[in-house]
Amino acid sequence: MAVSITIASGKGGVGKTMLTSNLGIAMAQFGRNVTILDADIEMANLELHLGMEGMDITLQDVLAGKAEISHAMYRGPGGVTVVPAGISLDGLREVDMDKLERVLKKLLVETEVLLIDAPAGLGKPAVTALAAGEHLLLVTNPEISSLCDGLKTAMVARRLGTNVLGAVVNRVGFEKDVIDVKDIEYILETRILATIPEDPEVRRGTTYGEPVVIRTPDSPAAQAIKKLAADLLGEKYSVPGAGRRGFFRRLIDGIFGRV
Ligand SMILES: Nc1ncnc2c1ncn2[C@@H]1O[C@H](COP(=O)(O)OP(=O)(O)OP(=O)(O)O)[C@@H](O)[C@H]1O
Ligand SMILES: [Mg+2]
Repeated sequence: MAVSITIASGKGGVGKTMLTSNLGIAMAQFGRNVTILDADIEMANLELHLGMEGMDITLQDVLAGKAEISHAMYRGPGGVTVVPAGISLDGLREVDMDKLERVLKKLLVETEVLLIDAPAGLGKPAVTALAAGEHLLLVTNPEISSLCDGLKTAMVARRLGTNVLGAVVNRVGFEKDVIDVKDIEYILETRILATIPEDPEVRRGTTYGEPVVIRTPDSPAAQAIKKLAADLLGEKYSVPGAGRRGFFRRLIDGIFGRV
């Protein structure tokens, strides 16, 4: 059965699109049929992270009722399937976000794992993306404003009936972290599934449109993301020092129906 996971944060700029693209590719590298979809319809940039700008037919066209979803699916780096949102300002006016749920139902027939890159905030596009995924993966930075916004996002997701899988703390070590990762777990009232370090290779990857798991697979951030992908899929992947596998295996076996 297909699994859909929305990647959301509340606060902008914390690393949702970076995580969606790299996690999707890492899961595809484990042999899964993965689709990543840019639901950040107003400020789309998944395609920039992947070096896939300028696709003819995008989610905008599908949500405007002008194209079928199958025509907005492209083969991306690492074998992942990509649905770009499109960056046309004119096209945006015709978009009907209420069509998203129906579109995703069709998409889920063709994929094993669907990752949805959500917009920041709690406006209609963000809430639609939160409701669209079966599960939520919350992204936060270890600082107070992204934690508060993340908490709101998790609360809204729960009200919508979306299962909060847990949180990913990104850019750890960027500034002398004001908040300890253990405290983050307590504040967010959810498990921390991974911590991703601040890593200059991530920024370089974004600049060149080449995700870090492909460009520099041995870099610390790429290793952390591959480990997260393995944990979510119940696959083996060892990064020196990691030791929470048993817990995740149980969690994910439940999600993927392998118990
Ligand atoms: N672990 C990291 N180390 C270094 N830079 C990072 C890391 N994670 C993300 N970045 C950088 O932070 C910037 C913002 O990342 P990204 O676009 O993924 O955030 P976002 O949450 O999707 O933003 P938005 O809310 O605008 O959609 C990018 O330039 C990215 O390269
Ligand atoms: Mg983004």
